[in-house]
Amino acid sequence: MMFRRISWLAPAALVLFAGCSASDGTETAAEANPCAANPCAANPCAAQEVPVDAIRQGDRVLNAHGNTDAQLVALGAELWSDASLSGNGSTSCSTCHTGDGTTAMNPTFAQPYPHFVQMANDRAGMDEVTAAEMVQLCMAIPMATDPLDYDSEELAALTAYSVSLQDGFVPTAAANPCAANPCAANPCAANPCGG
Ligand code: HEC
Repeated sequence: MMFRRISWLAPAALVLFAGCSASDGTETAAEANPCAANPCAANPCAAQEVPVDAIRQGDRVLNAHGNTDAQLVALGAELWSDASLSGNGSTSCSTCHTGDGTTAMNPTFAQPYPHFVQMANDRAGMDEVTAAEMVQLCMAIPMATDPLDYDSEELAALTAYSVSLQDGFVPTAAANPCAANPCAANPCAANPCGG
């Protein structure tokens, strides 16, 4: 009786203690590995290194590449829905910032830059950000790719367009579906497998 119970439990215990590493490499362990089909593996927010040095503007100056302000804003409006800017090739600024472009933006966006932004503080330890730093943060975190070159036309354009959206922006925190940063609420943050 005792024996039968133990022999039935033993394989289950093995599976449990195989943990996340599947280090023995056998097919059985791989199949039983609870992390093998980790639903969070593709989460752009999970265990992501935020390249704070590349994001910080410091004394770097944006390069308009000969465009007027109006031309930069127009170019930025085009880039807003350009998914080729993202790490997965299918996300654009307009994926989250839909409609007039300000969806998912919190009341902080109403203030002149530089200002406090929760995501910048949570993910990069920054107390306040310039408009360009905010574009770079959204490149690195939700867009899951490298920050843009500070000298690039793209960064000047996206920054100019972002700032242009502040005109007439009315904070609607209560109605904002993204008021709680989706990265901060990452259900995989405590993933024992490291996501
Ligand atoms: C996956 C969703 C997502 C994508 C894609 C995304 N963002 Fe954001 N963005 C957010 C969220 C969430 C916030 C709010 C951050 C906060 O307030 O903590 C935000 C805030 C902002 C803000 C305003 C911050 C403030 O309060 O001053 C700007 C500007 C911005 N994003 C620009 C961009 C640009 C430019 C792109 C494309 C290169 C982009 N975002 C792509 C989710 C996204």
